[in-house]
Amino acid sequence: MKGGDMTYSTKDIPAEGLSACWKSPSNIALIKYWGKLGGQLPANASLSITLSNAYTVTRVAASRLDTPGSGPEAEFRFEGELNLPFSSRINTFLKSVASHFQYLPDVKLSIESGNSFPHSAGIASSASGMSALALCLCALEAQFQGKEAGAPGFYEKASSIARLGSGSACRSVYGGITVWGRHHDVPGSSDEYAVPLHFDPHPLFSGLRDAILIVDPGEKKVSSSVGHGLMNGHPFAESRFAQAGKNLSGLLAALKSGDWQVFARIVENEALSLHAMMLASDPWFILMHPNSLLIINKIEEFRKQTEAKVCFTLDAGPNIHLLFPEEETERVATLIKSLKSYCFNDKVIEDLVGEGPKQLTCR
Ligand code: PMV
Repeated sequence: MKGGDMTYSTKDIPAEGLSACWKSPSNIALIKYWGKLGGQLPANASLSITLSNAYTVTRVAASRLDTPGSGPEAEFRFEGELNLPFSSRINTFLKSVASHFQYLPDVKLSIESGNSFPHSAGIASSASGMSALALCLCALEAQFQGKEAGAPGFYEKASSIARLGSGSACRSVYGGITVWGRHHDVPGSSDEYAVPLHFDPHPLFSGLRDAILIVDPGEKKVSSSVGHGLMNGHPFAESRFAQAGKNLSGLLAALKSGDWQVFARIVENEALSLHAMMLASDPWFILMHPNSLLIINKIEEFRKQTEAKVCFTLDAGPNIHLLFPEEETERVATLIKSLKSYCFNDKVIEDLVGEGPKQLTCR
């Protein structure tokens, strides 16, 4: 391995192999990515908050293949169990990114992964899982190059590799608020990788809470790839992409000034527009549950009565993400309590904006 060199050889991988270990969180989009161009590029820019408590820990160990050049080959264990369906998906993903890592064709990878949240918790694991894996792949490359993980360009590459696995995963490689997709109001923004927000948001948003009301913990009714595909030829596609761009500009201004009313209006408009797209798709999908609508009505009622700073967003599913600033924690606790009976087994996952991925010492 040559210090700081872009080219390197896998011949001198030590007998015990090389390994990398990362913890990477999930994220929730406030401006939604829904619809893609080719090559996993987004049809519009999106913005998300990186979460804290919902994360994946992944360890990747690399050893040299007996027949270098025939790889990559990977074995995948999820929470201690060999998982063949996941192994096959991961092998397909690794082959698709092999041209981005000089070492990959020469190695055998042993991948172990686990989530901080239960499998059927209604939290998508693709963002945390794919970002953790991409960070490990980039950290191994850094070791080959004799560089530090985190050197200039490291996170950009990790983000673009994560994107190839799952679009929204590219936003999880940074903490706080991140933007993915080219947008005139975000300097340095790119369709290929996410960037951290280019300014410090108003302190109102610094400890933003996300209480996830689990209405249904089941599998997604529509896979992401089918969902994004519904936007091809969708009668409202162009208006939707324009709306997302305008909403992003408005949200950035609200994040800067600390205007909760504007923030809430835009965030809710984005969530319901995402679901409206699915209602108007051919074939259509209704992803909300009757209880999702009941909860939304209760949130609105509570807000009218108390003027509390609280709003909601949804992913492509029935669960409600209740967003509120830290200062509202006590008041919103009474709202959450009153909404538990509409949730599956009274389930609520309390999360908040987080600091982003961390490199761990491998064991
Ligand atoms: O990353 P994907 O392909 O699973 O798509 C995610 C789409 C939404 O979660 C609905 C919105 C988003 O921007 O995260």
